[in-house]
Amino acid sequence: MGHKKTVSIIGSGNVGEHIAALLVLKGAVNIRLFDLPKKDGEKLYPHVKGKALDMLQMACAVGIDSDIRGYVVDQEGNGYEALLGSDIVVITAGFPRKPGMSRDDLLSINISIMNTISKKIREYAKDAVVIVVTNPVDIMSYAVYKLLKAQKHKVFGMAGVLDSSRFRAFISLELNVSPKDVHTYVIGGHGDEMVPLVSVSNVGGIPLANLLEEKKIKEIVERTKFGGGEIVDYMGTSAYHAPAASVVEMIESVAFNSHRILTCSAVLDDDSAEYYGAKDLCVGIPVKLGENGIEQIIKVPMTDYEKELWYRSIASVKKNIKLADEFISKYL
Ligand code: NAI
Ligand code: 2OP
Repeated sequence: MGHKKTVSIIGSGNVGEHIAALLVLKGAVNIRLFDLPKKDGEKLYPHVKGKALDMLQMACAVGIDSDIRGYVVDQEGNGYEALLGSDIVVITAGFPRKPGMSRDDLLSINISIMNTISKKIREYAKDAVVIVVTNPVDIMSYAVYKLLKAQKHKVFGMAGVLDSSRFRAFISLELNVSPKDVHTYVIGGHGDEMVPLVSVSNVGGIPLANLLEEKKIKEIVERTKFGGGEIVDYMGTSAYHAPAASVVEMIESVAFNSHRILTCSAVLDDDSAEYYGAKDLCVGIPVKLGENGIEQIIKVPMTDYEKELWYRSIASVKKNIKLADEFISKYL
């Protein structure tokens, strides 16, 4: 096999470790995992090293040639030297939502973590494509973009692929069809105001509105919007299998230069800002992803009603961007 790309994952909690496990089983990239030591009473465990070793042995058990290593870091930013040579960096470090907690409650604490990590990416992997997962993801993607002083096509967040998977899952269950033939986009902020775009959703090319009653579509749209909360209510913590698989879709499009059209939380400016009526923020829109990151922003058509929902969604993202700018400016 030719040269494998290197994917570094910062934060090896539920989402980070599942991204790593999926990647290890595909064997197509080298993986570096970074996390704080885990505290148990007085003892500190370098558990990220154990996770990496366990996954390396998993790859051996199923006969896959994979390279994965774990590195212990601290909150001050020590221990990141192995970021050197990363082609893609995924950030999942931070804190997940607990029941009753909104994604926006996580804002200030996670921005300070993004600041430390951005410094280290700048030091060791400034040309890498960076995929942000930490919530609230639109704000964290914007924060990393600003703090890294990155080119706008190099930093983006994961949410739309996950939200679209939820929408597709519910449609495929309702119609008893393979999710492979269900095509949807969920755009806007990754919050309660996200916009599942019904007008461009289709099953095998047939518009969703031709296949399901309006009332049923509305129910599925609502379930999609609160899809993350539904899992939190069941598990007491947020989802990680579907989020990890969604990040892997994005990683593969970058690592293998496949030019997939995937919804990502991207920086809007120039003509995309004009089309979408918003700028200087990160928000979910379909983009084309290749080895340099975002190659093109897709201008997806919307009905007047969907435009109204879109503007409502970006208004709620903008409110938090304003708040985030205050925190971010302390670090610039
Ligand atoms: P988790 O708590 O299982 O993992 C987070 C990991 O980050 C922990 O292992 C922790 O030790 C590590 N960490 C914390 N501070 C760190 C620092 N300063 N440096 C390095 N590592 C640090 O949480 P989980 O479930 O993996 O979620 C991670 C983040 O992703 C959360 O913010 C969550 O809300 C978000 N998320 C976002 C989704 C999306 O659609 N964008 C979907 C699912 C989760
Ligand atoms: C989700 O939607 C927590 O944002 C995460 O599952």
